[in-house]
Amino acid sequence: MAQQDDVFKKIVSHAKEYGFVFPSSEIYDGLSAVYDYGQNGVELKNNIKRYWWDAMTLLHENIVGIDSAIFMHPTIWKASGHVDAFNDPLIDNRDSKKRYRADVLIEDQMAKYDDKIAKEVAKAAKRFGDAFDEAQFRTTNARVLDLQARRDALHERYSKAMNANDLAELRQIILDEEIVCPISGTKNWTEVRQFNLMFKTEMGSTADGSMTVYLRPETAQGIFVNYLNVQKTGRMRIPFGIAQIGKAFRNEIVARQFIFRMREFEQMEMQFFVRPGEELKWFQQWKEWRLKWHKALGMGDDKYRYHDHEKLAHYANAATDIEFLMPFGFKEVEGIHSRTNFDLSQHQKFSGKKIEYFDPELNQSYTPYVIETSIGVDRMFLSVLCSAFDEEQLPNGETRTVLHLPAPLAPVKCAVLPLVRKDGLPEKAREIVDELKFDFATHYEEKDAIGKRYRRQDAIGTPFCITVDHQTLEDNTVTLRERDSMEQTRVAVDDLHKLIHDRVSLASLLRKLR
Ligand code: GAP
Repeated sequence: MAQQDDVFKKIVSHAKEYGFVFPSSEIYDGLSAVYDYGQNGVELKNNIKRYWWDAMTLLHENIVGIDSAIFMHPTIWKASGHVDAFNDPLIDNRDSKKRYRADVLIEDQMAKYDDKIAKEVAKAAKRFGDAFDEAQFRTTNARVLDLQARRDALHERYSKAMNANDLAELRQIILDEEIVCPISGTKNWTEVRQFNLMFKTEMGSTADGSMTVYLRPETAQGIFVNYLNVQKTGRMRIPFGIAQIGKAFRNEIVARQFIFRMREFEQMEMQFFVRPGEELKWFQQWKEWRLKWHKALGMGDDKYRYHDHEKLAHYANAATDIEFLMPFGFKEVEGIHSRTNFDLSQHQKFSGKKIEYFDPELNQSYTPYVIETSIGVDRMFLSVLCSAFDEEQLPNGETRTVLHLPAPLAPVKCAVLPLVRKDGLPEKAREIVDELKFDFATHYEEKDAIGKRYRRQDAIGTPFCITVDHQTLEDNTVTLRERDSMEQTRVAVDDLHKLIHDRVSLASLLRKLR
């Protein structure tokens, strides 16, 4: 675990050093859980968004996109349930004056039991060597059995308290488990209170009378309230989907793990409207399609898993997360939810407008059911970055830091490097850049020795380096160096476009989804 913590620290500092992610407002000492994307980060992020958008809107004839406003009528959030129920249970430590999420303190405690069990298993594995039977050890070792029983009992008690929204019981669990504040080390806890995660602001000047509005905590509601507009103007027939990418805001109390949990973040959401009764079939279908989208990136099939929800929101009849193996464990990157007709029905009720679909095949009207796929752009970005980061030991004893980014997502696709800054090589290199730049993000670099320039491109994940040397002037060939294998091949300048295109085009990635 400690080793993984170190790796994660390295990834965070690499992201800053190479222009991917900066802490927001850094010269003013930063703003907690808010981040800015730098010159390379924004390109990687845009490529992720383009991959998602095209997979939704190009590959599905029945999915269209929208871009709704961040500000929406405040009643929308009443209808959706966010005003009353989008809460986190909070607890304060009276000595340190620090505020925590009660559920997170308890989940951390469960993780501590898991860690202790894992340590016992690792110790025994070392002691018994090849003869070690882990399954048998877990079911017979007294200490492990005791820890597991305590963990299971805690899990059951915690789930019950969360389901019943029992804040007093959450506090009691914290006391009974003797959980201490990590800052003060004391158990001097306040009561647990609900805290709404939505940011509020005022719209209109106070003289004219102002209205409290919210920064949207999810993009989904912008889709629901435009359901009728899109269905009618797009003459959409069920089943059909509406996709949207945009910012969302949540006043997260426990914001940690870099861009994993932020206060301002971006979502890519798609609501798929279906006939009542067919929703579970579509839920299954979207589970499969979304996992395929992730796996097509080639970051390792074993790094994904589904986590089906045991506890469902009252309006959902199925829900699952797609989790990715980050350096700090398997974590949710995307949620797929079968939301029944809850949202559309609520908006019908609160707005007084009829929100129904006339199904010509069934010759009847109904409020459509909805399957939602919801993925955080920033979490997706983090999973790509974590999986790509590598400190590679080279045969000559050196270490190179390289980002093995999926080539179509790389911020820079190729770098053109004149071997020396004279003899007409820079001019020839510029000529090549001027050909390639219309189709690929292309860098020109002439400063420093060629090896150093290769390393800089490796560090930002550039799939190809093109080196222009004296031979180029004679026979119009260049050296094409591939990032992952570091292999160098002599190729004709005229073939560059095709060679690069075959590896970096988004279309090649999208074709895998067929
Ligand atoms: N409309 C459904 C919805 O918003 P969610 O599970 O709350 O569902 C969906 O969020 C996705 O948004 C998550 O899987 C995650 O990737 C991302 N997300 C949620 N909160 C986030 C935060 N504070 N920071 C970064 N990403 C977040």
